[in-house]
Amino acid sequence: MWILPNLLFTLCIALRCVTSAVGVIHVTGYMGSEINVSCSYRQGYEYYEKYLCKNGCGNSDVLIKTSESRKNKYVIHDDKTARIFTTTIFDLHSVDAGKYWCGVSKFGKDIYTEVELKLMPDSCCDNMNKIESYEGYSESISCPYESQYQNNLKYMCRGNQRSTCRRQALITSHSRQHGRFRLDDDKISGKFTVTINSLTKSDSGSYLCGVQRNSDLDVFSAVELEVKEAVHYAAYAVVPVVLLICVLVIIYKYKCYNVRATEAVMSRNTPKAEDVINAEEGGIYGNQEFVVTFKQQSALNHFDEPDYENVTTEERYCNENYHKAHRR
Ligand SMILES: *[C@@H]1O[C@H](CO)[C@@H](O)[C@H](O)[C@H]1NC(C)=O
Repeated sequence: MWILPNLLFTLCIALRCVTSAVGVIHVTGYMGSEINVSCSYRQGYEYYEKYLCKNGCGNSDVLIKTSESRKNKYVIHDDKTARIFTTTIFDLHSVDAGKYWCGVSKFGKDIYTEVELKLMPDSCCDNMNKIESYEGYSESISCPYESQYQNNLKYMCRGNQRSTCRRQALITSHSRQHGRFRLDDDKISGKFTVTINSLTKSDSGSYLCGVQRNSDLDVFSAVELEVKEAVHYAAYAVVPVVLLICVLVIIYKYKCYNVRATEAVMSRNTPKAEDVINAEEGGIYGNQEFVVTFKQQSALNHFDEPDYENVTTEERYCNENYHKAHRR
């Protein structure tokens, strides 16, 4: 006796599949979140009972009916003006994925629309863009998007939950500036930039760049921002800068000293060969540093004009002084 109803049931399922294959409604939800399954119906069925069912849609497979409005984790609402009834499924788990049917009860065979529910993890994403900045600074986070989304709403939220991101957005392309946040949408290069001013350490953490889509889930990319203490940054930056200035000052003073010392010697007569020899031995001046410079300078003294290509600005300046003095 059980074979006949079973056979009819199978046939019924098969017929449903055939009749509704074209109009399958695809919905995708986030794990742990909720989803709306909306099904439209034809004029004249406004006051008929509607329901959402799973599997074979037997009496025990009906999850919720419009006469119940709320049951377990399902809520149903029939918008008779738009002729759309919507079932919200809360607290989605992997077992909720799969095939559903929207049903309209009527005399004879009910009207069915097939629904395919897919689930995806709520947390985004496997690869995230890491950015480092410092307290008190501004940082711009760049969010690229595909050119087809030029005119869609762009937004940014904290955390990594896709399901709540748009609702909890820090800034959207509608507002552009909100507190410390500013959003600039560069449609030509296909990216939007969120600038955060006056960073504090509490700004550290994950952020999501989101682009709203109309008939599908929004698209996201993840960013990890690390705000470091400004004190460390200042210490790291100041020490080398101070050292560099000291080194430059020492080099400059050293050069000027040498040039002046040379000038003093040059103001006398052109050195004789024995003076040079004495100087080379450090005999008369006893100053090694001076001797090195003196050798360079004495080579130049054989010409009326010094070979400027091989001397620095300071040397050239001092040499000109020397030559002026020498000609007199
Ligand atoms: C489902 O629909 C209701 C009513 O239109 C809306 O408030 C809610 O945000 C929707 N939920 C989702 C997940 O789209």
